[in-house]
Amino acid sequence: MAGPIPREFIDDLLDRADVAEIIGERVKLTRAGREYKGLCPFHQEKTPSFTVSPAKGFFHCFGCGAHGSALSFLMQHDRLDFPAAVEALADRYGLEVPRTGPSRPSGKGLYELLQAASRHYIEQLKSHSAAKEYLQGRGLTGAIARDFALGYSPKGNSLLARLGQTEEDRRRLVDAGLAIRNDSGELYDRFRDRIMFPIRDRQGRVSSFGGRAMGEAQPKYMNGPETQVFHKGRALYGLYEMPRGKVPQCVLVEGYMDVIGLAQHEVKGALATLGTAVTPRQLTRLFGIAPSVVFCFDGDAAGRRAAERAMERTLPEMRAGRQISFAFLPEGEDPDSFVQSKGAPAFREILEQATPMSEFMMMTLAQKCDPTTAEGRARMAELARPWVSGESAAPIGVYRDLLFARLAKEVGLEEERLRQLLQAVPGRRRRGQRGPARPAAGRPAATGPFDPLGEHLAGLILHFPELASASGPLPEFTHLSEPRVALFSELFEQARATPAANAAKLLERYRDRPERELIARLLSKNSGLSPQQAARELSGGIERLAKENALRQMAARTPG
Ligand code: UTP
Ligand code: MN
Repeated sequence: MAGPIPREFIDDLLDRADVAEIIGERVKLTRAGREYKGLCPFHQEKTPSFTVSPAKGFFHCFGCGAHGSALSFLMQHDRLDFPAAVEALADRYGLEVPRTGPSRPSGKGLYELLQAASRHYIEQLKSHSAAKEYLQGRGLTGAIARDFALGYSPKGNSLLARLGQTEEDRRRLVDAGLAIRNDSGELYDRFRDRIMFPIRDRQGRVSSFGGRAMGEAQPKYMNGPETQVFHKGRALYGLYEMPRGKVPQCVLVEGYMDVIGLAQHEVKGALATLGTAVTPRQLTRLFGIAPSVVFCFDGDAAGRRAAERAMERTLPEMRAGRQISFAFLPEGEDPDSFVQSKGAPAFREILEQATPMSEFMMMTLAQKCDPTTAEGRARMAELARPWVSGESAAPIGVYRDLLFARLAKEVGLEEERLRQLLQAVPGRRRRGQRGPARPAAGRPAATGPFDPLGEHLAGLILHFPELASASGPLPEFTHLSEPRVALFSELFEQARATPAANAAKLLERYRDRPERELIARLLSKNSGLSPQQAARELSGGIERLAKENALRQMAARTPG
C-alpha cells in the first residue's frame, strides 16, 4: 500500500500547477478579467458558467457547483483517484512523488546485494575469534546468533574487495548504503570492525544493517542510511526472527540487543525501532501483528519523558481494539540486561504490570497538577486538551470517549460539560505540527450569534490569504464556541503557516473534512472587495471577536 503523500509536496505541486493551463488543455477557456470562463465539462450547458481563477488556483461552476483545485479537476475530469491525480501532476513537472507505491522501482538488485553482504559478514564472524568472544561475552548462544544472522565486518574494506569488482558493482554498494564515497571520490566500507545485525523485513529480505562497535569506538551503533529499500521510519528490527503465527502482544524495545536478548529467553513478540521515536507507520505494523503493544522504558525520569512523548505520538493512532501500555524497568536496566540477570518470568511480570496508556495519562496529569484544588483541576483539563481535541488527539470514537470519562472523573466535572469545554474551542496550535485541527464539532453548522461574522472572516481569508500571512498570530478566542469562528481561526493559522498560501492549498487541507463544502461555497462567492477593504474588514472583525471573547470570559467568572 502506498503511504500518505506529504502535505508540503502537494503544496509544492499546487504552486507549480497553473490551473488555467491544465484545465485549458481539456476545456476551451476564454479570458474574462483576472479569470477564465468556459463551458462546464461536468454538465450540459449552452452559456458558460464554468470559471477558473489562476490566483486562487481554483475552478468553480455556477451551474452545477463542481469546484476545486487542479488536483480535484484531474480527479473529476480524468476520473483519477487522489494519488493518481497527484502522480499525473507530478509527472508533468518531472517530480517524483515522495512515498512508496506500486509504481516505484523494486530495488530487487539491492536486495540481492544486501543478502550477499550478509553472507559475507556471517562468514567473517566465523574466522574472527574476538567478535565471537564478544557475542559470547554478552551471553548469546550460537543458535540465537544464527537465528538473527549476526555477522562481523572486518577492519578495512573487505566488502568492497569482495563485492565491488566493477564500477557498476561499487555504485550499487553505495546505493545499498554499504559503501561510502568521501569528498575526494575514494570508496570505503561503511561498516568496519563491527558486529553486524542484518535488518530483515517480514519476508526475510535484508534491507539494511546495524553495526555495533565492540570496544569504545564511537558511535556505539551505526545504522545504514535511508535507501530505496530501507526507511528507518518504517522498519522494525526483529520482524522476520519473530515466531510465525499469532503472538499475544508486541513488546516494543529500544535496541537490537534487547530484541535478541528477549528472543533468547523466549519472550515472544519483541521488536525495536532503529534509534528513532516510533512512527504511525510502525504502529500500524505493530497492531497488524497483535492488538496489544507494550512499550518498554527505563524507570528513570528520562524513561518517563520518553514514555510521554511516545504517548503523544501514539494517541492519534488509537482505534477501538488497539491497546497500548507502558512497562517501566528498574533504573539502569534495559530489557536485555534485565532478562539476562532476572530471567524471563520476572520480565513477563513487568509486562503484566504495564500501565495502560489512559492510566499513564492520568498519572502524568496528577504529577503536574494538584488535583485537590480547583485551579489544579482546571490545569489538568487544559493539559489534557490536546489529547482529546485537535489534530494530535485520539481519534473520535471509543478511545476518546474513554479518555473523556476518565478525565471527567479526575477533574470532577460532568463528562458533557468537559466535552463542551475542551472540544468547542480550538486549542492552541502547537508549533511544528501541520495540517488542520479536527474540531470535534464536525460540520460547522451555525450554533451561535457570532457564526455569521466567523463565516465572513473565513471568506476573507480564503479570498485574501496574504492578509493572514502578513499578520501576527490571531488572539485565542477561548470563550467563543461558534464553529465558524473556530473555522476562521483555523484557516487564519493555516494561511499564516503556508508559504504562498492560496485558496487551492487551503481547500486541499479540507479534502476529507465536512467543512469542505462551506469553504467551497465561500470560495465561489466573489468578495467584491479590494485588498485594502478586506484588510480593514478583517482587522475590524477580529477586534469584535476579541471583545466578545473578553465579555464571555467575564460572564463565565461571575457566579450564578
Ligand atoms: P542503547 O545505547 O540503549 O544500546 O541504544 P543497547 O541496545 O542497550 O545496546 P548495548 O546493550 O549497549 O549493545 C539503543 C538503540 O539506539 C540506537 C540503536 O538502534 C540501539 O540499538 N543507537 C544507539 C544508535 O543508533 N546509535 C548509537 O550510537 C547508540
Ligand atoms: Mn543494552
